[in-house]
Amino acid sequence: MKKISILAIVGSLRKNSYNRQLALAAKELIGEQADFELLEYQDIPLMNQDIEYPAPEAVKRVRDAVKSADGIWFFTPEYNHFFPGVLKNLIDWLSRPISKQERQVLSGKPTAISGISPAMAGTSLAQDHLVTLISFLNMDVMNAPRLTIPNAMQQVDNQGKLALKESYPYLEKQADAFIRFIQSRIQDK
Ligand SMILES: Cc1cc2nc3c(=O)[nH]c(=O)nc-3n(C[C@H](O)[C@H](O)[C@H](O)COP(=O)(O)O)c2cc1C
Repeated sequence: MKKISILAIVGSLRKNSYNRQLALAAKELIGEQADFELLEYQDIPLMNQDIEYPAPEAVKRVRDAVKSADGIWFFTPEYNHFFPGVLKNLIDWLSRPISKQERQVLSGKPTAISGISPAMAGTSLAQDHLVTLISFLNMDVMNAPRLTIPNAMQQVDNQGKLALKESYPYLEKQADAFIRFIQSRIQDK
């Protein structure tokens, strides 16, 4: 079986984002089992139909990255009981058809969701809203297991570095499950 590719989409643009660090921990954990890249999308403009066609170069780049990935893994913070606007903006761009011939790139993509927050709910409300959106876009969501990590500060050192302790086995479990989920979808094709 060919090596699968996973594209991580982090819902925070913050340099030292805990969610970005969680994505990097997943990358390290997965190692050689899959190609694992983080999508950089700071240069995506705000959605504006006046500039939609032809698509800006940055939009073309992220669409190509999503299109060629076997699976998409979201790592999202929670902002005001929702997922951040930067992520909604990115998904709005990705949700649009590329051309009359080609449909949007998210449809049918195997997808996993994780998140970490300093608060008690551990991004679960943000994740629920994200599931509503990406299900509407026909993504193939792995609803179990999802990973919600609360009380982030208990697993962050005084340099702001995430050192996963009790949550590590859950990340491991989710990574294993997601690899199997993607493989099963490839076999079904
Ligand atoms: C505008 C805003 C709203 C926030 N609302 C929530 C919230 O509803 N629930 C929560 O758990 N944390 C909330 N937070 C705190 C974030 O969880 C925290 O800043 C976290 O570190 C952001 O993720 P990151 O480290 O990946 O950037 C909020 C932060 C911001 C900036």
